[in-house]
Amino acid sequence: MKIVLLGYMASGKSTIGRGFAEKKQISFIDLDDYIEKKEEKTISEIFEERGEIYFRKQEHKYLKELLDKKESFVLSLGGGTPCYAGNMDVLSSHEEVSSVYLKTSIKTIVDRLMNEKSKRPLVARLKEEALSEFVAKHLFERSYYYNQANYMIVLDNKSVDDIIDDLQVILS
Ligand code: S3P
Repeated sequence: MKIVLLGYMASGKSTIGRGFAEKKQISFIDLDDYIEKKEEKTISEIFEERGEIYFRKQEHKYLKELLDKKESFVLSLGGGTPCYAGNMDVLSSHEEVSSVYLKTSIKTIVDRLMNEKSKRPLVARLKEEALSEFVAKHLFERSYYYNQANYMIVLDNKSVDDIIDDLQVILS
């Protein structure tokens, strides 16, 4: 069993993924953490020193590396992972993968990102108004990819425990 969580930045993929993995007693992997460990640099350093194209290449490589592992896991992707390098096709080519889009409203994302922008190079320099505009447009563009997931959960107004219960039901 390989559960892959996707969705926009700050939608809660890692918190939910970690909780769900604990419940299922399988390992949890955060793709950004995995990339940072492998590259021995933070995501911000990779963007700054090597650029986004290099980051997307490595992201694609490490996603495939993880999906080729035999054991079960819950994997949370980066917000952009589904939108580059045919990564949604990579997911669907693995029969044992169930992908879930964790859908969040623009308002929730902007509120959260205002407090946690600094480690996210795509939005780190945006002030609140510019951030709202950016997220609205970006989320619209990215939804084309996110909507290709096997399942979707709308997160707004739900507690982490409720979402974990929803995941159990969907994936049972
Ligand atoms: C990105 C999202 C980030 C990280 C990188 C690029 C994106 O992951 O992969 O900063 O393109 O949306 P999170 O979704 O975990 O913030």
